[in-house]
Amino acid sequence: MPKTLKFPPGFLWGASTSAHQVEGGNKNDWSEWEKSELRIKNLELKGLNPDDFISGRACDSYNRYEEDFDLCVKMNNNAHRLGIEWSRVEPEEGRFNMEAIEHYRKVLSALKARNIKTVVTLWHWSNPLWLAEKGGWTNKHVSEYFSRYVELIVKELGQYIDYWVVLNEPFVHIGHGYLTGKFPPNNKLSLAKIPELLNNLVNAHKKAYDIIHKNIKNAEVSLTFLTGYVEPARKWCPVEWLLAKIMSYIRNDYFFKKIKGHFDFIGVDYYHHDRIVFYPPFVRNKNKLVSDFGWEIYPEGIYHVLKGYAKYKKPILILENGVADAKDQYRKDFIVDHLKWVHKAISEGADVRGYFHWSLLDNFEWADGYGMKFGLHEVDRKTFKRTPRPSARVYGEICRRNGIEVN
Ligand code: BGC
Repeated sequence: MPKTLKFPPGFLWGASTSAHQVEGGNKNDWSEWEKSELRIKNLELKGLNPDDFISGRACDSYNRYEEDFDLCVKMNNNAHRLGIEWSRVEPEEGRFNMEAIEHYRKVLSALKARNIKTVVTLWHWSNPLWLAEKGGWTNKHVSEYFSRYVELIVKELGQYIDYWVVLNEPFVHIGHGYLTGKFPPNNKLSLAKIPELLNNLVNAHKKAYDIIHKNIKNAEVSLTFLTGYVEPARKWCPVEWLLAKIMSYIRNDYFFKKIKGHFDFIGVDYYHHDRIVFYPPFVRNKNKLVSDFGWEIYPEGIYHVLKGYAKYKKPILILENGVADAKDQYRKDFIVDHLKWVHKAISEGADVRGYFHWSLLDNFEWADGYGMKFGLHEVDRKTFKRTPRPSARVYGEICRRNGIEVN
């Protein structure tokens, strides 16, 4: 007989998106980079069609947000994570576009009208062009610019926001924007310059936290971090054990230590498991099951990540967890298996308050364009028609039941 593993009452169930990945029609550092000669040349060299790597109209969610939110309702979601696009709100330095603000007011009200709690990301990697021209996040005044934007959002839209995600995965922006060159500004920085960039992100986060709290009593503010379960391939090997400890600390804890006193919950994005070996490239996973991206599917890892965060004694929201799976062959089990481990962590005391699947829709997957399909809903690239994948129904049933069925 199957039994139901129940989640705590009031548990938040949702799906996540980000502004640049779904809205369409953005003009920011990403949209320009997508069209840049360098990027097009690199894609052509790999035999890829550059058109598949241009965000363009994305999912057209800027216009179709009501339709998107109806999909959330159909899945019995009581919460939703989405982004505000800074470049729309402040297209020129110091000039705010109040039409964009009115747009987001409608968007957030549309969620409220459906009784859906809002989790809002203020920065998910894309930047206004004027900021990019000034050096983006390497500019020493960036935290002041960002604060100005945050002040406006707090004043105009604060009343509609239940959970604030100030920054999305700052390390990914640093890594791909300044080290690997996969993201704009594709600007290789010397390692010596990285701490400055990191501090700019830390300061912007802390200032935003203070601004929000000064204006909104009991606000729930944090950021998301791309967490990972890092373990030594051989526990008895001191080098691998030590390397795993260090890498786990950098990956999961370092940033939260830097913003100590400036987060009210922990925003967990979980996709990765790293099994550490002492020889290059230092990660060697067993990869019994991998996604279309080639990422190992390793549900147990989320349990370790959640347990690792218990020490902060803060509520935890899982704000991203998902799989690139065009055929929808793994997603159902992926969801259930991860939730089993989440449930175990909760039953052992982890204060997890919500789970948000990445993603509501197939969307613009950054450096990988439209190739990787993370959506609970498929999106037709020409008509923008949304079609639920079978996993969307399974997820909807879990949300309705506030629990998973296991044998
Ligand atoms: C990012 C998303 C991205 C997802 C899948 C996360 O790290 O926040 O924007 O689509 O990973 O790659």
